[in-house]
Amino acid sequence: MFSGKRVVLGVTGGIAAYKAVEISRRLVDAGAHVSPIMTNAAKKFLGEVTLSALASEPVQSSLWDEQNPIPHTNLGQQADLLLIVPATANLIGTYAAGISNDLLTSTLLATRAPVLICPAMHTEMWEHPAVQENLETLRRRGVRVVEPEDGILAGGDIGKGRLAGVEKILVEAETALTKNDLAGVRFLITAGGTREPIDPVRYISNRSSGKQGYALAKAAKIRGADVTLVTTMDRPTPSGINVLCSETAEEMQTVVMAEHMNNDVVIMAAAVADFRPAEISDHKIKKNDDMDTINLETTHDFLIDLGARKNSKQILVGFAAETENLEENALGKLRKKKLDLIVANDVSLPEVGFAHDTNEVTIISENSKWTLPLSEKRVIADGILDAIIEIHQEQTEKDAS
Ligand code: CTP
Repeated sequence: MFSGKRVVLGVTGGIAAYKAVEISRRLVDAGAHVSPIMTNAAKKFLGEVTLSALASEPVQSSLWDEQNPIPHTNLGQQADLLLIVPATANLIGTYAAGISNDLLTSTLLATRAPVLICPAMHTEMWEHPAVQENLETLRRRGVRVVEPEDGILAGGDIGKGRLAGVEKILVEAETALTKNDLAGVRFLITAGGTREPIDPVRYISNRSSGKQGYALAKAAKIRGADVTLVTTMDRPTPSGINVLCSETAEEMQTVVMAEHMNNDVVIMAAAVADFRPAEISDHKIKKNDDMDTINLETTHDFLIDLGARKNSKQILVGFAAETENLEENALGKLRKKKLDLIVANDVSLPEVGFAHDTNEVTIISENSKWTLPLSEKRVIADGILDAIIEIHQEQTEKDAS
């Protein structure tokens, strides 16, 4: 998602400066061009060579470079994002006052790119009215702030002021770089394979990892949506996503049916079991219990209920995991379940579908088809969201005519 983006990574003088190295490496791995700036105080905490080695170019610190006479304007004008990790109280105060007394503060004034600052400092400093008022000033001017977390601080003190986690900072950086085209749209997304118990220790499930549903939830959140994720899995999610847990098809049905009317888009990415044991033993079935068959019964297909109950404004998206006749089977499910879109994948192909980090899908509506080649599930997620936006526009135009 950072591919081709130019990120100026400012590092100021705090203990958390070492975490800027990990951020830089992750941004470069994700395709960004990272130009690091270190203040003189930052160099007391972090070796310049380390950051230079893991960024896209050597660290710059000086406004006075004969080879590169006006570094701050070049850096500021070319940047897609200015990211300050960590931001000290001194940097926050200097920036809020509009002072440009070194390369970093000059670049901050010279840029029109989004600015994301990640403060880290002792709790007393963080809570000081001067720091809070300076942050308010910056927020008013459009600067984004990733608030510090509670935790152990330098010297062993405990309190608010610890730099936010790397994942959180990367999600916020991506959000700052991404179009907000789903702002305010409410999404209900399901993820993972349901587990249908046989007895207190065993269950029947499927190979779904939930990765595609989680990628959809993250992509929608980053594009500004309000997201509720109904999941059978225990995976990290970006903050701000409303996570509801369920385990069996029946539990997921209860949660989804209670929530779906509050949403503009419902995406059923979960691999809901088609069968469950007809009886669940309340004790562990022992080897000698003479059990050689498990009687199964079908679960209720609640995507059919969602299709029957949805209003004309809601967009309903199903998934179809197939091993043969991909498009024909998917189109059949689209019609039978009254969906707006179905995302079909051939799970018999290598690197596609269940448990993989990549996917290859065909998205089908009654009038259109989108083919997304083998890509990271996150890229596929953005493609599905783009198709949802197109379908929404088509429906709005149809309603208006
Ligand atoms: N689905 C559901 N409830 C079920 C089974 C499936 O809501 N009990 C949903 C899935 O979440 C998915 C879609 O229906 O979005 C299609 O699921 P899939 O397993 O591919 O198809 P089925 O309709 O179950 O048909 P089959 O298993 O015969 O291919």
